[in-house]
Amino acid sequence: MYDTRFENEIAAIDLMGPEPADERSRELYYIAKLRKLIRERSEAAGRPLTACTVTFGCQMNARDSEKLIGILIKSGFEPTESENADFVIFNTCTVRDNADQRTFGRLGRISHLKKKNPLMKVAVCGCMMQEKGNVDKIRKSYPFVDLIFGTHNIFRFAEYLWEVYDKDSKVTQIWDKTDSIVENLPVERKYPFKSGVNIMFGCDNFCTYCIVPYVRGRERSRNPKEILRECENLAKDGVTEIMLLGQNVNSYGKGLDEPIGFAQLLNEVCKVEGIRRVRFMTPHPKDFSDDVIQVIRDNPKVARHVHFPLQSGSDKILKKMNRRYTKEQFIERALKIREQIPDVSITTDIIVGFPGETAQDVEDTLDVIRRVGFDNAYTFIYSPRRGTPAAKMPDQVPADVVKEGFDKVLSAVQQSARDRSAALEGKIMEGLVEEVNSQKEGYVTCRLSNNMIVHIPGDASLIGTYQQIHLEECKGFYYFGRIAGQD
Ligand code: 5AD
Ligand code: SF4
Repeated sequence: MYDTRFENEIAAIDLMGPEPADERSRELYYIAKLRKLIRERSEAAGRPLTACTVTFGCQMNARDSEKLIGILIKSGFEPTESENADFVIFNTCTVRDNADQRTFGRLGRISHLKKKNPLMKVAVCGCMMQEKGNVDKIRKSYPFVDLIFGTHNIFRFAEYLWEVYDKDSKVTQIWDKTDSIVENLPVERKYPFKSGVNIMFGCDNFCTYCIVPYVRGRERSRNPKEILRECENLAKDGVTEIMLLGQNVNSYGKGLDEPIGFAQLLNEVCKVEGIRRVRFMTPHPKDFSDDVIQVIRDNPKVARHVHFPLQSGSDKILKKMNRRYTKEQFIERALKIREQIPDVSITTDIIVGFPGETAQDVEDTLDVIRRVGFDNAYTFIYSPRRGTPAAKMPDQVPADVVKEGFDKVLSAVQQSARDRSAALEGKIMEGLVEEVNSQKEGYVTCRLSNNMIVHIPGDASLIGTYQQIHLEECKGFYYFGRIAGQD
């Protein structure tokens, strides 16, 4: 769906004039310049130039990629899913080592495509690029990469793209921080009916295992009026489901001129006409206050899903992780959420193998899993990240011990997820139809308010609609069902 906003603004730009000072106008200025250049290159090639974004990591990165492809489309590229494109950009994640390795693997493969297509240019951006070692490695081992930039200067993408194409030069631009939040640039949503909305950037928590505060910088909240305006515009453009995004959404509002907290923001977003569902990602258990629980409870538009990252159930490990809650405090919050919002699903993240973790610590984690009864969980093996305090801690756990703990945790969360899902069998719940099921012909995939996936018979005409769905057959983490009344 071509985004027609910005057209008048771009058309009015004087390409002979100087580069504007304000960041947003400057980006639009470079988009306008690129448009002419890419058109010329396409004409010379006798076909449109294509562009592909490859995204790793979290929802924040997914949203950033929508901004990248938005700028590419506005600059005259034709979007494609295929990496065999004229411009390929990898938006990287570095939260665990396997994310880094996946990027290097994909880069290795793309060099063959680049040899075959002389027009092809390759860019790498995102969290991994905030680490000097990774940039050096790309420069040395993947010298065909044309453009490298990081998380803090993503809003300068159009300008860098221009430099790469106009001068046919290699560009590396990494900033170590930024105070800027640049709003209102072109975006191309992956789904017409749902969208992420950034409410804050960065993180100040400094969990000792986590690289995010180093690669995403200090916490900065967006102005609530800007957020609401973006939600209103999205609603006008057909969006009905919004996911508010931040590394630590509960501390939203710190440092803003007007006093506002996350609970109030959530309430305001629910009032936006046309918005039917509001999700948020990710809260921190230490800041999950009663007022947020109340807003979810009292407002049926807020999705019945709380992602509540435990990380560990051992007080000793939680302290070493700098999580700032105890096992009992976590359980108390989780059970309060369950008690106040009975139909809520609670999902979590768990790390196994943090330095110093013993079999007893793993038992504590298992105990929390049993007592809270998570509806789903992402279980990770601890991955030391350079520059984080945990990477330097003694007592790194041997791989075979980690594996043993990991298997126990995994089977406990799978059991808990199966039990929780099975309890919904036979119920009728509202689902948003998101996409055609690529595995099973004649089926589409829906997401319930509690984030559960249900596959139902149907075709593409249902995409973007809300349906009452009969949950017929539990498959562990997901369901097969059908539209109620069509059974
Ligand atoms: N090792 C393993 N898992 C990690 N996570 C963050 N950092 C690490 C690490 N160094 C996990 C946490 C977080 C999720 C996004 O990734 O569980 O909640
Ligand atoms: Fe990965 Fe964290 Fe960056 Fe998201 S913010 S892409 S999880 S490193």
